[in-house]
Amino acid sequence: RLAREAELIVVAPATADFIAKMALGLADDLASTLMLARDGPVLLAPAMNGHMWENPATRRNVERLIEDGVRIIGPGEGALACGEEGPGRMAEVDEILAAIAGMLGEAPAKGREPGGARPLSGRRVLVTSGPTHEAIDPVRYIANRSSGRQGHAIAVAAAHLGADVTLVSGPTHLPDPPGVRTVHVRSARDMLEAVRAALPVDIAVCAAAVADWRVARPARAKIKKGAGARDARKAAAPPRLELVENPDILATLSAPGPRRPALVIGFAAETSNVLANAKAKRRAKGCDWIVANDVSEKGGVSGGVFGAARNRVHLVTAAGAESWPEMSKDAVARKLMQRAAAALAQGKAAAE
Ligand code: PMT
Repeated sequence: RLAREAELIVVAPATADFIAKMALGLADDLASTLMLARDGPVLLAPAMNGHMWENPATRRNVERLIEDGVRIIGPGEGALACGEEGPGRMAEVDEILAAIAGMLGEAPAKGREPGGARPLSGRRVLVTSGPTHEAIDPVRYIANRSSGRQGHAIAVAAAHLGADVTLVSGPTHLPDPPGVRTVHVRSARDMLEAVRAALPVDIAVCAAAVADWRVARPARAKIKKGAGARDARKAAAPPRLELVENPDILATLSAPGPRRPALVIGFAAETSNVLANAKAKRRAKGCDWIVANDVSEKGGVSGGVFGAARNRVHLVTAAGAESWPEMSKDAVARKLMQRAAAALAQGKAAAE
């Protein structure tokens, strides 16, 4: 998981020993095994004694790693931890962060895009994320497998582009993203209320997996197993749950009116006929764009989309559908928010 989920692996400090192990492809502990098993980019920030750095063995190892595509930042010169002076000081943290930003195509020190572009500056963005929990009784609920990773990534991407972001999140295990106003909710009805309170916004993105139904009358006390059995020796029939439809948040946001966001983006989680269902969903809900993903175990990304780091989506607009290659959920989020910023700037969100 470590090897697959990271978008970038940074080794700081990278010792002479670790660099030698990497150059040889040794894998006798977690860190070296991770480096051999990885499929993403690596950044090393070497730190060691000056003679170790200049030793021909280290020079050979570093050159071999560069040939293998590994990026090296530093080392600098100056006072070393061993008390000597010379080359081998680990690059400064700012330099390492800038190198990371360059490799990821963003500038995380300030959470900005390359060149400091903030095309959503002055815009308000609302994102829903995660599942909803619909109570059956005080201890049980109906839920789904959404982790919130895709929705939270969209909130972060919008904030990086300069937007004022409200994230309305169902119950997840994710930390609140920095630079984003996070409102925590449980049920679909709570989510709708929080969404309404966040209006007006310029862009609304409904990435939450909202439960379509809730239990009509949640029990006030825990439902007891066997409750209602006429004969204590016989099993009671399982309780029957009557379901009623939840409000549709995306459709509510998309309805024409003075507070309708200029651009409303819904998601479609499908397990078959992904594009056809997504197109129908766009029309039925009245939103501008739909981001469709295949959430079946086999159809989408390997291992499934729920909870995973990666996604493969189709962007469905009035102009047609566009299939994006599989990428990290962060990259999907960045691309989607860049497209949204461009559409808003051209004032053609709804028409596109
Ligand atoms: O959270 P992750 O683990 O990262 O997984 C990401 C995801 C699969 C949850 C995400 O990419 C995704 O597809 N989110 C939408 C899930 C969903 O509920 O899809 P849907 O096809 O059932 O709903 C269509 C749209 O209507 C969605 O935008 C949904 O937010 C919205 N909706 C649905 C029902 C409802 N009562 N109110 C709504 O607003």
